[in-house]
Amino acid sequence: MKKTLDRIHSLEDLQRLARRRLPRLVSDFVDGGADREVTLASNMSDFDRIVLLPRALVDVSRRDLTVEVFGRRLALPVGLAPAGLARLVDREGELAAARAAGKAGTVFCLSTASSCSIEEVAEVASGPLWFQLYLWRHHEVVEDLVRRAAAAGYEALCLTVDVPVVGKRRRDLRNGMTIPPRVRSAGALDAARRVRWLWNLAWGDRITFRNFLGLADGDDATSLGAFVNRELVNPAATWEDVARLRALWKGPLVVKGILTATDALAALRCGADGLVVSNHGGRQLDGAPSAVAALPSVVEAVGGRIPVYLDGGVRSGADVVRAKALGAGMVFVGRPWFWGLAAGGEAGVSRMLEILADEVDRVLSLIGRPVFAEVGRDAVGAYQTVV
Ligand SMILES: Cc1cc2nc3c(=O)[nH]c(=O)nc-3n(C[C@H](O)[C@H](O)[C@H](O)COP(=O)(O)O)c2cc1C
Repeated sequence: MKKTLDRIHSLEDLQRLARRRLPRLVSDFVDGGADREVTLASNMSDFDRIVLLPRALVDVSRRDLTVEVFGRRLALPVGLAPAGLARLVDREGELAAARAAGKAGTVFCLSTASSCSIEEVAEVASGPLWFQLYLWRHHEVVEDLVRRAAAAGYEALCLTVDVPVVGKRRRDLRNGMTIPPRVRSAGALDAARRVRWLWNLAWGDRITFRNFLGLADGDDATSLGAFVNRELVNPAATWEDVARLRALWKGPLVVKGILTATDALAALRCGADGLVVSNHGGRQLDGAPSAVAALPSVVEAVGGRIPVYLDGGVRSGADVVRAKALGAGMVFVGRPWFWGLAAGGEAGVSRMLEILADEVDRVLSLIGRPVFAEVGRDAVGAYQTVV
């Protein structure tokens, strides 16, 4: 395993390895986006359009990648974004990812729709944990989750606001992907070829939403899946519900899924302590701006009152630095940690974070700005065609 991971030198390498390891049904679930996947693609391509402007002959012999986030000093300005059902790609799922994040000195944000529970993850984590929440249809579910996250020591609550309905993910529809997943006859042969994946799964418990054991009609995967499908999406949710949540949760409240100045200000009015500029990795509204294109207007509207973070399309250390230059205090990655998990469990996630740390470190040297926290707007320019 270590040998294979040593040959991985970029997040693209990692994605390729993950694709080889996973059945199509699963890799499409992870990699796919909504509708025509235009927003998904722009999350990456818009980063490429931002040029980094180097300063020469600056002493860069000592670099500093650390950032302070809600009173915690993180070793790395890259956290793991909330992504559900991680045990679909690796037997240990979120447990392995939380351990890897802790070892790298960064944040692991657990999804509500996780395949390991709030308490199970808290037990193995050594670094800061955030808990991601949706405004569930029934307030009692929200209250229960918030109480459990607080009791288990989660430091921040990350409220996702971009799922009034679930985006139309064509790849999943085509593949017959369901929650809980069932390998149908068309995909069975493909799945049977992924020996490592099958072996891995054979040793684990049934993959399900473990935060809801005891809440649904039954604890089998189908009942829990039906419960989540019914309860998670709450098209009636409004900013008033956010204000209500604010009263419930005493720690930092981060609102994820902000793409406009208007929503940034609404979140501020509700008492948010931080924002994540995000389009859910292009999995919700196709046609929404890329995360990095939306970042400057949100940063401007907030005017430094609360920190602004970003996720979506971060695939290299250069992207992390570009986001910082445009005002993101730190970034989060979603798919990359799933690729790491698929490629090599905890070691694969660690390798992904190690690659990004190394790349950020190198870019800081190359642009003549050795302190990540001090990278500002003057480090980037807009891409222009040369005529
Ligand atoms: C497989 C998968 C599952 C996800 N599940 C959730 C979730 O449960 N809650 C949530 O707020 N965001 C979820 N997201 C979105 C991520 O938190 C994040 O916004 C997105 O992945 C960032 O884009 P990136 O994958 O390009 O890094 C999920 C993303 C993926 C790829």
